[in-house]
Amino acid sequence: DAGAAQFVPEGKDWAALRSAASGCRGCDLYRDATQTVFGEGPVPARLMMVGECPGDREDTDGHVFIGPAGRLLDKALDAAGIDRAKTYLTNAVKHFRFVERGKRQIHQTPRRGEAVACFPWLREEIRVVKPRLVVVLGAVAAKAVLGPSFKLTEHRGEVLEHDGLRVGVTVHPSSVVRAENYRESFDEFVADLVAVRKS
Ligand code: URA
Ligand code: SF4
Repeated sequence: DAGAAQFVPEGKDWAALRSAASGCRGCDLYRDATQTVFGEGPVPARLMMVGECPGDREDTDGHVFIGPAGRLLDKALDAAGIDRAKTYLTNAVKHFRFVERGKRQIHQTPRRGEAVACFPWLREEIRVVKPRLVVVLGAVAAKAVLGPSFKLTEHRGEVLEHDGLRVGVTVHPSSVVRAENYRESFDEFVADLVAVRKS
């Protein structure tokens, strides 16, 4: 459980990385989750988006952003004029974190230590995908890429330079799904996507 690094094959292509990630035991999350949900999309790709961790649907089916957050993201990408098919989508943490409530599995935000443990996979995805822009969706992804003291709310809609990467910052689509003022939150999310895409 000492992080993903020991499971990451050196200098390999995307398919080899994905296959190696399926056996990762770099933190405790592999124990209760169904499977590793690796990133997906074209390799290379100009645009990469990084979410938090798989949800219940993603855990069951093994694909990123196919549940409620994914549907919201699809709508927002459409509204922002971004083609999902040309975008590489992944998560900061590759296993579902949840608690059992009766028959339901309730999503839990991954801990900082889990994001740190999982970061070697994201680093490798960035290496092979070679994105011009990495958009971090929400605080977990933002802190994984930009460091633990990063304050998302102060940088929404901005593109920052970090370690030779261009990093666009916005919220997580789940926060829009749950928002009380849905319409406004959705429009702000789309405006962020448009802004980071243009800059
Ligand atoms: N939320 C995420 O951050 N990623 C997914 O793949 C699904 C929900
Ligand atoms: Fe490995 Fe990441 Fe899964 Fe933890 S969450 S076991 S580090 S793939």
